[in-house]
Amino acid sequence: MDFQKYYEERKQLVESFLKKRTAKKGISKVDDAMIYSLLAGGKRIRPILLMATADAVGGKGYNYLPVACGLEMIHTYSLIHDDLPCMDNDDYRRGRLTNHKVYGEATALLAGDGLLTMAFEVMLEQKGVDPAVLVDVVREAAMCAGNFGMVGGQGLDMEAETKQLTEKELKTLHEGKTGALFIAAIRGGARLAGATDKQLLALTQFAQFLGLAFQITDDILDVTGTEAELGKPVGSDAKNHKTTYVTLFTLEGAQKKADEALAGALTCLAEFGEAAEPLREITRLMAHRKN
Ligand code: IPE
Ligand code: IPE
Ligand code: MG
Ligand code: MG
Ligand code: MG
Repeated sequence: MDFQKYYEERKQLVESFLKKRTAKKGISKVDDAMIYSLLAGGKRIRPILLMATADAVGGKGYNYLPVACGLEMIHTYSLIHDDLPCMDNDDYRRGRLTNHKVYGEATALLAGDGLLTMAFEVMLEQKGVDPAVLVDVVREAAMCAGNFGMVGGQGLDMEAETKQLTEKELKTLHEGKTGALFIAAIRGGARLAGATDKQLLALTQFAQFLGLAFQITDDILDVTGTEAELGKPVGSDAKNHKTTYVTLFTLEGAQKKADEALAGALTCLAEFGEAAEPLREITRLMAHRKN
């Protein structure tokens, strides 16, 4: 399998879907701000994971673009809000000025609200799926995005600026702020494509390992990365006095934890056949990512 081609093709599908779906403008300049961040590139890892997981259980992932791209909209909204002065106060994202730097804080806030709301409209436009399954996949995405998931993790992240966390607390924080949307993507793809209960269980564990590894690597890159490669500032965590895997375990220790989580993720895919190769490749890619 030519994995690079696989990834590029799916990334292109995501780009064109998002572009097309946001072509019709609403009634204010909030649209421009939404599109500014949404179409600024990014790895598109969550929608690609959704598609690759559907492929892994014998489905055709590219049939689920509305749900996949809805998750990317939720993720982009979370980045716009994450960068606001009241949160991480960062100036660059995806290689360009952050949303509030260009449009001002009020419009950036609304651009996030707009993307979050539109995500549910777009996900529910998904065709070719049993409506009961679709509703439950979207319900689960909502839960993962909310106070039991991403928003909850971001809440803990803000609290953690003023207190030192234990490893257990930091793991809970990472599972919320980053892991939950990985779970929504991976379980979503699995369920849309009709995974068995046994497959779903293995894939849920896979998502937990992968989400954790992804955020530990994000913590590492905040120290070792370059702004040019990341498209966002380095040193944001230190500036905001965050507890991260690097502050708790040193760079080397954090890397070891990320490697362990990635190995755990691959183990969860052991029972899957050839069709899970893209998922395995994405996992391997995570071990060396520079952005
Ligand atoms: C950044 O997410 C925020 C985290 C949850 C670590 P990504 O690293 O997926 O950012 P983009 O979408 O590629 O810009
Ligand atoms: C944010 O984590 C995760 C989100 C839910 C957006 P970070 O604050 O570490 O993400 P970056 O490093 O700014 O992308
Ligand atoms: Mg943050
Ligand atoms: Mg941040
Ligand atoms: Mg970070």
